[in-house]
Amino acid sequence: MDKHHYKPKRGLWTSRLGFIMASAGSAVGLGNIWKFPYITGMHGGGAFVLFFIFCIVAVGVPIMIAEMVIGRHTRKDPVGAFRKLRGGPWTLVGWLGVTAGFVILSYYCVVAGWAVDYLWLAVKGTFSGKHIQEVPELFTSLLASDLSQLFWQAVFMAATVWIVLGGVSNGLERANKLMMPVLFLILIVLAVRGLFSPGGPKALAFLFTPDWQKLDATAMLEAMGHAFFSLSLGMGAMLTYGSYADEGTNIPNVALTVSIMDTCVALLAGIAIFPIVFTYGMAPAAGPGLVFKTLPIIFSQMPGGTLIAIMFFLLLVFAALTSSISLLEVVVAYYCDEKKWQRRNATVVMGFLIFLLGVPSALSNHLLADVHFIGGRNFLDSIDLLATNYILPLGGLLIAIFTGWVMTTRLARGEIEKGAVNFHYYPVWHFLIKYVSPVLVAIVFLSRSGLF
Ligand code: TRP
Repeated sequence: MDKHHYKPKRGLWTSRLGFIMASAGSAVGLGNIWKFPYITGMHGGGAFVLFFIFCIVAVGVPIMIAEMVIGRHTRKDPVGAFRKLRGGPWTLVGWLGVTAGFVILSYYCVVAGWAVDYLWLAVKGTFSGKHIQEVPELFTSLLASDLSQLFWQAVFMAATVWIVLGGVSNGLERANKLMMPVLFLILIVLAVRGLFSPGGPKALAFLFTPDWQKLDATAMLEAMGHAFFSLSLGMGAMLTYGSYADEGTNIPNVALTVSIMDTCVALLAGIAIFPIVFTYGMAPAAGPGLVFKTLPIIFSQMPGGTLIAIMFFLLLVFAALTSSISLLEVVVAYYCDEKKWQRRNATVVMGFLIFLLGVPSALSNHLLADVHFIGGRNFLDSIDLLATNYILPLGGLLIAIFTGWVMTTRLARGEIEKGAVNFHYYPVWHFLIKYVSPVLVAIVFLSRSGLF
């Protein structure tokens, strides 16, 4: 087949920039702005942040390249891709991924729903002039309302379904190109403001001065799991996006760009949020409500705060949407490619089923607040922990082993070099994916299990 006339029945990104933006859109999301700051706060800052960055470099970037290589080479959904390359038990890796997408999206919509609720609060001007003590109470009262959470969760899922219905280049791509740069800008403004506030120096010290004592096995697993979550790795999302990329795309380049952008957004969110924590004497380990309890304090006091709040939450919702569509896309691609469903039906039916699975998460802070699962956590935090700390790293480990040990070098190298001619760093990547990434994931798993 002439590579310039590759005419897939499946969609393709219309441009290379479109592919970068879509992958970055998938990576940058609630993971960066909601989750990274709160888990950093819970695990004591510095050492956790540095180990997270180390995982991005040693595990994240190599595995992102691997996923994109497998996706573009096979032009399939995760299940189809592994079946085509090897089949047998390896197909299960694809299955694990589709299941993970299903599970993660279910609670992702609930948290994104909180962001939509805050957008609505911002539009109503609720934050303006609020007393500092009143701001965190807004979050408490949101969590106390099962109905609001279900409502916003449904709204967010409906928006996700609607975009995915538009197909690859129309829906996914156009949605992505627009808002990323604006999100970056607004975070920079908030971060700079934070740095010059009284809590700024303390926040910087908290985020970047490592106290290695605090990095126990639990924190390491959390940091590594979050590297997977934040980069959308370990379940075939980047594989699926890679399957829509054209042959000329320079995969290592895209993976590196996306990883750098993703890490920068997370760090900026931290630099925006922790000065508020320290300026007002709040607890860094406040948990999942951290971003919602802190940033609105600033919005309530800044001149023009309402407008900035509206923009911030609008962009947060948007960042969440460009991630949620990638999660739904994996599930939809599987039903279209493997089960030959119509795209339309797959999107609507799966969107609805995933919404249903999300219901217990939406109720987990009030109606089901007394039902505890892993380590006393509620339903939402438990499946987040299960998916992020176990399923994604396991998926990533298997993808790394597959790419490093099962796929032939000729095949991997050939695929990479279609778009990255004379890729000098090939041996570096190959070494990382064959030895470093799998060993590191295994060590972190084993040390958490107490075997090590
Ligand atoms: N990376 C996204 C975030 O940080 C979430 C996400 C999107 C994701 N697609 C994924 C996580 C695939 C894991 C796997 O918010």
